[in-house]
Amino acid sequence: MVRLGLLLLRVATVTEAIWQFSPDLTVLAQDDDGDGTESYLPLPSTDSWYRAPEGWEEATPGTVFKIRKNAYNVSLVPIANVKEVFQVLFRSTDSLENATWGVTTVFVPHRSQCDSTTSSANCSQGIVSYQLPYDTSCLDASPSFGLQWGEPYGEIGMALGRGWWVSVPDFEGPLASYGANIVAGYITLDSVRAVLAAVPDAFGVKHPRAALWGYSNGASATEAAVEFAPKYAPALKLAGAAIGGLTPSQITSGPMIARTQVSGLLVQGIIGITSQYPKQREYLLTRLHPSGPYNVTEFFWASYMSGWQSLLYYSYVDVFQYFIGGQADLEEPGMAAMFYREGTLGVFGIPDTPLFMYQAVEDDLTPIAETDSLIQNFCEKGSNILYHRNHWGGHNDELTNGRQRSLDFMGTVLGGGDVLEFPSSGCKTVNLTFMQDPQKPIV
Ligand SMILES: *[C@@H]1O[C@H](CO)[C@@H](O)[C@H](O)[C@H]1NC(C)=O
Ligand SMILES: *[C@@H]1O[C@H](CO)[C@@H](O)[C@H](O)[C@H]1NC(C)=O
Ligand SMILES: *[C@@H]1O[C@H](CO)[C@@H](O)[C@H](O)[C@H]1NC(C)=O
Ligand SMILES: *[C@@H]1O[C@H](CO)[C@@H](O)[C@H](O)[C@H]1NC(C)=O
Ligand SMILES: *[C@@H]1O[C@H](CO)[C@@H](O)[C@H](O)[C@H]1NC(C)=O
Repeated sequence: MVRLGLLLLRVATVTEAIWQFSPDLTVLAQDDDGDGTESYLPLPSTDSWYRAPEGWEEATPGTVFKIRKNAYNVSLVPIANVKEVFQVLFRSTDSLENATWGVTTVFVPHRSQCDSTTSSANCSQGIVSYQLPYDTSCLDASPSFGLQWGEPYGEIGMALGRGWWVSVPDFEGPLASYGANIVAGYITLDSVRAVLAAVPDAFGVKHPRAALWGYSNGASATEAAVEFAPKYAPALKLAGAAIGGLTPSQITSGPMIARTQVSGLLVQGIIGITSQYPKQREYLLTRLHPSGPYNVTEFFWASYMSGWQSLLYYSYVDVFQYFIGGQADLEEPGMAAMFYREGTLGVFGIPDTPLFMYQAVEDDLTPIAETDSLIQNFCEKGSNILYHRNHWGGHNDELTNGRQRSLDFMGTVLGGGDVLEFPSSGCKTVNLTFMQDPQKPIV
């Protein structure tokens, strides 16, 4: 007991950025008596709604396949300002450029931006695509399911409070490919296209427009999306994107976290990325110890755990011990090429979306210099970026410290409430030392 307590304490100090969602599966088992009156959705792995219809591969990316209205029983959902929740299933593209599909969950506030009688018929309804980091290769721990029990940071409720709709894509896709930035970027973009296409007819929203927001692994998905957007979704006009705590290179981050309290992220990433690459998955299975301590079975237990559960389980584990050849097995050419392809940002395209980027100078998961040079490169090629470098705190602090500024940036690009001063063109870097006053509410 003492050991577990210490472990929890240690992990709790660094994991605010990690979604603490772990569904109580026993509640579900009791609830699902098959009479159709269950208050919660079934697990994604058993939910017949989570299937693409016949012939779906032929549809173009972003095509809406299904809308599930009243997906959640909102009287049970502990998220502020929620009136209604619906889900959209749509066509997308995977990391090998094959057809895949995705799901997003959309929250509608009690008071939408365009509800007020004073707004003109031209009112443009803001929709925030909110990429929530879920850091797991377990499909059943996807946000579309887990958000029924609440949200980790209160940010969905805050955005709803501003009158925006909030769309939360399961950006890791139907294989829960945690760490695979390519499929995450495509699914994020297609979720936005699908929601913008769905809401005029299904919900009477005449002029929807979307902005993106993501921190940490949610930043990777968001950043990949804005890099892909000019080529992959040229007709999509994004209002802006807020990107915080970005990891431009997972190649640098991987070994940095291998023996730390966040070792579990590396286990989840190896499983998640290889879910997109059948050849590398096959190789992986030949390189993990078949038995004894640190074996293949224990390694893959991660794929049954939420991000939080795997952080606890693998905390301070030397991940390379699971491999017959140690770290070198992950540096085999096929594996190295895969990690490089999925884990390197800044190489897919030049964003033409206004970006607010924010990062702690002392970010402990990724060196700030890599974000500096990614941004510098975009700026030299014409991007429009406001970059805040915060000299206060580390990776998890900036999640909280950047919250108000992110909401205000959304205010700038979507309308509604406070705004953040933003350069009308080009780039601006600001060094600041900012700590959110815990007494001051974020709105
Ligand atoms: C939603 O939950 C409430 C509270 O448990 C319950 O009374 C109601 O019947 C549920 N509604 C549906 C449609 O399941
Ligand atoms: C996916 O794409 C790869 C590379 O283009 C191709 O070799 C493979 O056959 C495709 N798989 C499926 C299931 O279409
Ligand atoms: C609505 O938009 C149209 C076309 O952009 C414009 O001509 C019209 O003046 C606008 N109406 C209002 C009330 O803003
Ligand atoms: C694999 O590791 C787990 C966890 O330590 C252990 O319970 C299991 O017996 C091991 N399997 C084999 C085949 O050694
Ligand atoms: C911000 O601080 C860095 C050092 O951390 C410095 O190199 C850079 O010039 C500063 N930028 C601005 C715009 O003040």
